[in-house]
Amino acid sequence: MRLAALLSAAIISAGLAGCKASSPSKLETMTVTFAEHHIFVGSVKQKNPLPATTENWADGKDAFSHYCVACHGMDGQNTGVPFVDRVSPPVPSLASEDVQRYTDGQLKWILDNGIRPSGMPGSKGILSDDELWSIVIFLRRLPPAGSQGVPEMYTH
Ligand code: HEC
Repeated sequence: MRLAALLSAAIISAGLAGCKASSPSKLETMTVTFAEHHIFVGSVKQKNPLPATTENWADGKDAFSHYCVACHGMDGQNTGVPFVDRVSPPVPSLASEDVQRYTDGQLKWILDNGIRPSGMPGSKGILSDDELWSIVIFLRRLPPAGSQGVPEMYTH
């Protein structure tokens, strides 16, 4: 939605600047560059506004334990989640290098938007920005695998 609005704004202003029919490829390049800078690269470079304090980490752990544990386990490493191997794509360990390679901004973007069409839901509007940024802090220092037990929903 927002992307579409930004892109059409870019196209309209390019049209007004008078380069419409003459150079569609230039417009295309400009639009893609605009999108990269304002959307993708923006979230790559976005810094976590919360400092990585023990308190923010604990808040992140708390928010994670309400909403994310059903699929990722208490430790973010799938401990005790019964269906991890049966969904496709499988639920990854959040401690894995593939996940840890994301920047803070990218992780926040993933949490906001989820990953379609997999089972990973977006949290925008469900969790607050502060909760999501504190979860990012928690993800950077996950507790050792298995140390947090099994999510309560799977214990009975
Ligand atoms: C309904 C199950 C479910 C819930 C709830 C869920 N996730 Fe996920 N998550 C998944 C699945 C499935 C994947 C794998 C997606 C893929 O690889 O396409 C995933 C992937 C991820 C990834 C890695 C993305 C990547 O590109 O490798 C992160 C980070 C993540 N989840 C964090 C969270 C956080 C934090 C929460 C809570 C705010 C959460 N998830 C809630 C199912 C879930």
